[in-house]
Amino acid sequence: MGTLDWRIRPSPPLSGQCQVPGDKSISHRALLFLALSQQGGRVTGLLESEDCLRTLAALRRLGASIDQLGPGDYQLAGWPDQGLVSPDEPLDMGNSGTGMRLLTGVLAGAGISATLSGDASLCRRPMGRVVNPLRMMGAAISADEGKPPLNIGAHPGLHGIDYVLPVASAQVKSALMLAGLFAEGETRLTEPGPSRDHSERMLNGLGAQVDVVSGRLVVQPGRPRGGDVAVPGDLSSAAFALAAAAARPGAQLRVEAVGVNPTRYGILRLLERMGARLQIENRREIGGEPVADINVEGAVLKAIRVGAEDVVLAVDEIPALLIAAAQAEGRTEIHGATELRVKESDRLAAMAEGLERLGLAVTTREDGLSVVGGRIQPAVVRSWGDHRIAMSLAMLAASAEAGEGVVIEDVANVATSFPEFPAHCRALGMNLEQSG
Ligand code: S3P
Repeated sequence: MGTLDWRIRPSPPLSGQCQVPGDKSISHRALLFLALSQQGGRVTGLLESEDCLRTLAALRRLGASIDQLGPGDYQLAGWPDQGLVSPDEPLDMGNSGTGMRLLTGVLAGAGISATLSGDASLCRRPMGRVVNPLRMMGAAISADEGKPPLNIGAHPGLHGIDYVLPVASAQVKSALMLAGLFAEGETRLTEPGPSRDHSERMLNGLGAQVDVVSGRLVVQPGRPRGGDVAVPGDLSSAAFALAAAAARPGAQLRVEAVGVNPTRYGILRLLERMGARLQIENRREIGGEPVADINVEGAVLKAIRVGAEDVVLAVDEIPALLIAAAQAEGRTEIHGATELRVKESDRLAAMAEGLERLGLAVTTREDGLSVVGGRIQPAVVRSWGDHRIAMSLAMLAASAEAGEGVVIEDVANVATSFPEFPAHCRALGMNLEQSG
């Protein structure tokens, strides 16, 4: 069976106005947090991508009552009177690391036995970072070599721990916070760096008690009351077009109603450091999250040096940043980015290969890579089955000045976060054809 591919022909600079679909991280959390809440609530603007629909399906299999009211609009009834039920078949979380890690926290907390599995990419990803601290809390979980499938068993009850996370990870932090809601005593978490804080914001908004005390996150036991959640546009999805427009003179782009949470907007600061002409306006709040409209005007950008302190605030946007780096003057260096090797693909290796095939000079190191900006050449490139690699290479391909275009192979995984991406690209003037 052939793969789904794109052919991108040289295209004019991006031009137009758009909105991006709902934030993936916030969508997963809205479903999980409302399902475990006492009274439930309604979520609007939910991202209906494959990853989030896996979380939704898993919750239904566990006995959560979720009714669809319209596109992206769902009513959740909250924790069932009889509690969640143990499923007799493994729950397939597909490609979703967030879905698997956060749901593990909920199931371990509630003491529900279940097996969580996923696709080949998810089954290669490290789960010890979630499983080990959950075991310290009293959970019964087994995982061969720390990889999925995860077998979660019943246990007499969890207790809070005081734990220092080995990596800055919102997924690990959130899984432990969720387990902490069901534990006896406080759960105290210290992170080595500032990962995204959507869980803290949403849990507090729904009535749970999560505070920062002397630099530590302190979770009080007790399930949240519930309430309504509105999901803002996903900055990680907007990042591809924002970076592409910023790096190409003549481009004019406006993205409306996109999340600009400071623990997520590292990409905007990095583009600004490269000389990008960004204007962030109409700042407002949606569901406890800062939101804004972003205007960008294309310019010739300059290379920068990106360090570990930048990567943590743009952990999913380094491939998008490389769209700009590949067109900037000079050598952009990325350091402190080893976490990218354990995402949906090894993103350092995948981007290095793609950039090289497109004609750019790339050097790789264990913790990062460097690329010298230059001209994009026609080529056949691989996505490595990773949505963010496919979308980054597509944006870069569009800025080739001449030639018969670039083929990007195996792009089906884009449906995990941004199913409308091809239509979004065409609306902004890109010449993108899909085949296979
Ligand atoms: C996410 C956290 C990040 C990010 C992922 C989504 C989340 O992972 O890469 O795409 O929703 O919590 P880590 O927290 O493991 O770095």
